[in-house]
Amino acid sequence: MALDLDLDGAVALVTGGVRGVGSGITRALRAAGARVVICARNEPDTLDDGVEFATCDVRNPDDVGRLVDGIVARHGRLDVAVNNAGGAPFADAADASPNFHSKVVALNLLAPLTVAQRTNAVMQRQDSGGAIVNISSVSGARPSPGTAAYGAAKAGLENLTTSLAVEWAPKVRVNAVRVGMVETERAAMHYGDAEGVAAVGATVPVGRLARPDEIGDCVAFLASARASYVSGVGADRARRGRGARLPRGGQRRHRDPVRHRAGRSAAEQGAGVSGIVRDRVVVVTGAGRGIGREHALAFAREGAKVVVNDVGVALDGSGTSGGPAEQVVAEIAASGGEAVANTDDVADWAGAERVVGTALATFGRLDVLVNNAGFLRDRMLVNLDEQEWDAVLRVHLTGHFAMLRHAGAHWRAEAKAGRTPDARIINTSSGAGLLGSVGQGNYSAAKAGIAGLTLVASAELARYGVTVNGIAPAARTRMTETAFADDMAAPDGGFDAMDPGNVSPLVVWLGSAGSAHVTGRMFEVDGGRVCLMEGWRHGPREDKGARWEPGELGPVVRKLIDAAPEPEPVYGA
Ligand SMILES: NC(=O)c1ccc[n+]([C@@H]2O[C@H](COP(=O)([O-])OP(=O)(O)OC[C@H]3O[C@@H](n4cnc5c(N)ncnc54)[C@H](O)[C@@H]3O)[C@@H](O)[C@H]2O)c1
Repeated sequence: MALDLDLDGAVALVTGGVRGVGSGITRALRAAGARVVICARNEPDTLDDGVEFATCDVRNPDDVGRLVDGIVARHGRLDVAVNNAGGAPFADAADASPNFHSKVVALNLLAPLTVAQRTNAVMQRQDSGGAIVNISSVSGARPSPGTAAYGAAKAGLENLTTSLAVEWAPKVRVNAVRVGMVETERAAMHYGDAEGVAAVGATVPVGRLARPDEIGDCVAFLASARASYVSGVGADRARRGRGARLPRGGQRRHRDPVRHRAGRSAAEQGAGVSGIVRDRVVVVTGAGRGIGREHALAFAREGAKVVVNDVGVALDGSGTSGGPAEQVVAEIAASGGEAVANTDDVADWAGAERVVGTALATFGRLDVLVNNAGFLRDRMLVNLDEQEWDAVLRVHLTGHFAMLRHAGAHWRAEAKAGRTPDARIINTSSGAGLLGSVGQGNYSAAKAGIAGLTLVASAELARYGVTVNGIAPAARTRMTETAFADDMAAPDGGFDAMDPGNVSPLVVWLGSAGSAHVTGRMFEVDGGRVCLMEGWRHGPREDKGARWEPGELGPVVRKLIDAAPEPEPVYGA
């Protein structure tokens, strides 16, 4: 009976799958029915049927993020990841530079870890999980003179394979194939002409070098459900019948849960690690003062290039001035960062387009949009005039939409051109929008609108590699220092909870590559507090199965209200 590997409908990624061993793996996965995406730094001249190509330097985590997000956006899933890209030129360990060694380790050890991390995140969300196969080498198991760093990296890759297999079981299986000598199209470079290849082949018990397709078959087997009980092994060990088992659930349960959680959160939040948004291009609107200024400075401190937008209006939205934006740019430049000022009005359609254009023209890309600009015209509803209503709705709600619309259209075009971004939008709502605030009917309505817009945008833009979240901050700025003077006052000493800089770390993290799994969420943030807000959700219900009479509904509504939690009070009520 033929062994049916049945990868029909599965989606596989093969790094460096263009030639050599990688092309053998690609052919084998195709033959088993998978759709295969291969990646390399340069596009090959020809592609086999059913194989897609994506440009990616696997050593660059942003590139890898875009690659994986692009596959998920196009195919809705990712079942198999093969870390095949690798290799190293010959160099004596005694003379090779530290930079050479770190590049070899980056390609052969760190890049597979990055690819595994990104693909695992997708596979863990799939009911059917997934399989990761790392291509190792006999150089990792025996002395490797002339390619010492390569051998060390491959040994590390095998150890990594076993750790990931334990950590990610049972959903994701992780295995390694320890490859010996293979007759690729570059065999002559290593072993000389046909006679040389034959001579080297004679030293192997089988009497010849392996063919790329034979490695491919082994990988396809490990990727298939036929290997569903195989994880955490190198293929050579599996052959000897040792260790071919899934890590037991007990191993996971017995770990110290506190240490486990602490490790996770440090990695996820980038705690204590600087540069979590290094080289990302960020637009912060209303960044000339208050909370927006703090966002711009915090992004720059973490390595981002910042477009500091601010039209420079008074607290009630009147007047304009380029001063605040220029001043923040000067502050960033003085501490060695990169920033550019823009003074467009975010609620003006063409102005919002120019803000996005400033990022593209100055820095060549856009990764993060922080919508923050706004002003207040507070009044009790019965005194609020049409102009005050329109102006506040315009700057907050239209301002958020206009920016989101132009940035979103840019990212969609990028995704369609095969460069799916790893982009972020962070909107600024308010407790006034989420819970209501007396005397701020216009502002509360605009900020509630922003919460709704955040949900829709997160659902619509996910396919283009964009996450959309919101914050409801509280901090001492000109917006609050008079109206809420007591709550906002700075203490004589100790932690200044209302310092506007306290809001920015969460926004920077939401703007980083590490937040890719978070979208459609709203966080209240002030001082040292981060609170995930839970919005409207279906509560108690009664269904008569027919139309109600108005007179029947009094007791029904009473029963529903009795069964529901009390709503939180409106601010100032
Ligand atoms: N301070 C708080 O406690 C608090 C609470 C909840 C929400 N917010 C929200 O946080 C954001 C920032 O507020 P802040 O307290 O830092 O206020 P702020 O007045 O100090 O800063 C707002 C900045 O936005 C700019 N701006 C206004 N209209 C603009 C436009 N059309 N285009 C470009 N720039 C424009 C202003 O010139 C100003 O520099 C606002 O959206 C606000 O509603 C603040």
